[in-house]
This record gives sequence, C-alpha cells and structure tokens, in this order.
Amino acid sequence: MTEQKISRKDIINIGWVATGVLAITELSLAGFRFLSPRKADGEFGGLFNLGPYEQYPAGSVTPVEAGRFYLVRLPEGGFLALYRRCTHLGCAVPYDPSVGKFICPCHGSEFTMEGDVLNEPAPRPLDLFPLFINKFGEIEVDTSSPMERDQTRPDHIERIEG
Ligand code: FES
Repeated sequence: MTEQKISRKDIINIGWVATGVLAITELSLAGFRFLSPRKADGEFGGLFNLGPYEQYPAGSVTPVEAGRFYLVRLPEGGFLALYRRCTHLGCAVPYDPSVGKFICPCHGSEFTMEGDVLNEPAPRPLDLFPLFINKFGEIEVDTSSPMERDQTRPDHIERIEG
C-alpha cells in the first residue's frame, strides 16, 4: 500500500480551483438575475398601486383584473388581497355580492370574504398577495409571490392605524 502525501502546493492549487468555481457560480447567478424579465408595475407578477385606502368602503370587494386578485376591505376596516385562482384546480373564482361569498363555477367551492373555505373541494383558502399601505396612504399589492395558508390569521389582515 502506497501512501500519497498532499503537498502544500496541491492544497494551494485546490484552494484556487475552489475560488474560481465559486466566482463563476456567482457571476452566472448574477447574469441570470439580470437577464430574467422583471414584471412591470401594474401587470400580473408586478406591483400594483391602488390609490388611497379611503376610496374603498368597509365591506367592499374590488376586482383588480390585471392583477388577477380582489382587494377586500373587511367590514371592520382591514384589507386583504386575495388571488382569484381557485385552490382546487385553478379556475377564476368570482365574488357574489348577493351572498357575500366567492363561489367557484367549476366544482362549487365556496369561500368567505376573507378567502377561507366554506365548501370543498378546495383544499385551502384563496391565496394571499402581500399588501401594505405606503407613506402616502395608498394601497400597494405585490403579485410576485402568492402566499398559501391554512386559514386567515389576524396578521394576514392589513389594518389602518389610528
Ligand atoms: S376549480 Fe374551483 S372548485 Fe374546482
């Protein structure tokens, strides 16, 4: 059995190779991010500015077609942005103001105004988009990453301070 010794020079060479691989990986990722298309504001996948929050009355549901979501202002005044895509098989779910529910036309799933499931087969509530109120009192909704949830929690609702 022969024993091979790793020289100091070999260790330095391995270090250089590892550094080179890391640098190439970093540059590739940066290039990919630079080249991948970013969604523009006001189109699905981008940011939506919906103007001053005061224009949305309590208990209202406002469809935002371009963003594929509903801006919901709950009766107590908080806001949610609900992705209109049914969590069963993806149909667009309309809101029925006469009964105050979202009812999927495909297989009959029903959702509360908060998007929680009232009737299956939908396996979970309607997904949420992050919503915040900027320093000008305008509502902004980020449609880049819908958020799944088991049910509506208080921290999902954006409330007006003061
Ligand atoms: S896609 Fe909505 S209930 Fe099936």
